[in-house]
Amino acid sequence: MTVIITDPRVLSRKMEEERERGKSIGLVPTMGYLHEGHLSLVGQCRKENDCTVVSIFVNPTQFGPSEDLQSYPRNFQGDVTLLERERVDLVFAPKPEDMYGEDFSVFVEEESLSKNLCGASRPGHFRGVCTVVLKLFNIARPHRAYFGQKDYQQLKVIQRMVRDLNVPVEIRPCPIVRDPDGLAKSSRNSYLSDGERSEALLLSTSLKAAQEALEGGENRVPALREMVLQRFEKSPLATPEYVEIRHPETLESLETVEKTALLALAVRVGKTRLIDNCILESPR
Ligand code: PAJ
Repeated sequence: MTVIITDPRVLSRKMEEERERGKSIGLVPTMGYLHEGHLSLVGQCRKENDCTVVSIFVNPTQFGPSEDLQSYPRNFQGDVTLLERERVDLVFAPKPEDMYGEDFSVFVEEESLSKNLCGASRPGHFRGVCTVVLKLFNIARPHRAYFGQKDYQQLKVIQRMVRDLNVPVEIRPCPIVRDPDGLAKSSRNSYLSDGERSEALLLSTSLKAAQEALEGGENRVPALREMVLQRFEKSPLATPEYVEIRHPETLESLETVEKTALLALAVRVGKTRLIDNCILESPR
């Protein structure tokens, strides 16, 4: 049976009991409106731990003032039904006021990896993410925590936070789950009209095209970026916010792709901001 807990103190106590009984604990942090991407993390977590906790919390501190906090899609009952089907042990669904008291004043800021890519257009976003994720770690004290490579920069920032602040948790990265036509699953896909959804395929098809160009011998970063940007030029609905090819660990700029590189995209399709990425692998 899946137990729903809303009070952080109750979750802490329950997790303490599990640890005392020698059980391993896995945490899957989410903002809900669950899809198969989330459920793949849950499946991996279930395989590797005795007790699986899924948090559902639309975290206000990671949304900017002009972002979609109010309209972010929510379906708590639907989420719980899916998680029951996955035989998740615990759902942690705190209220914003239980996570952030009125005089809340301590935040976690990663100062390097979080400054470019999504961090550049979403100031404060990763500060909010790090803060809530560290809080979730401190409340549940999981042995392992599961993050999708769909949010590649988020994964790297959290790995850095855990390393630099000596947080005793193992971060487990999980591959991107896509629809059969290639669109990466995202809660925000629900915002797309039919026309927008077909334009959104440009994200995954451009990633593929860049990998093919690399295999064809083009390894210069400016040329590869330009090739991707050109694919969006004809689209009336899809406007890239960034197309970047970066070192997969440091997220620093590169001139050429030698072995592997991160190709990351953020694109506005109508009013919806979508992200996608892949690790480019040079054939040489
Ligand atoms: P959310 O967007 O709900 O995503 C929760 C987790 O699911 C993240 O680790 C994300 O990378 C993963 N995920 C989403 N779509 C995926 C896909 N198509 N394939 C694989 N994994 C996917 O990311 C957040 O929430 C928040 O920032 C959070 C970490 C919960 C902090 O508030």
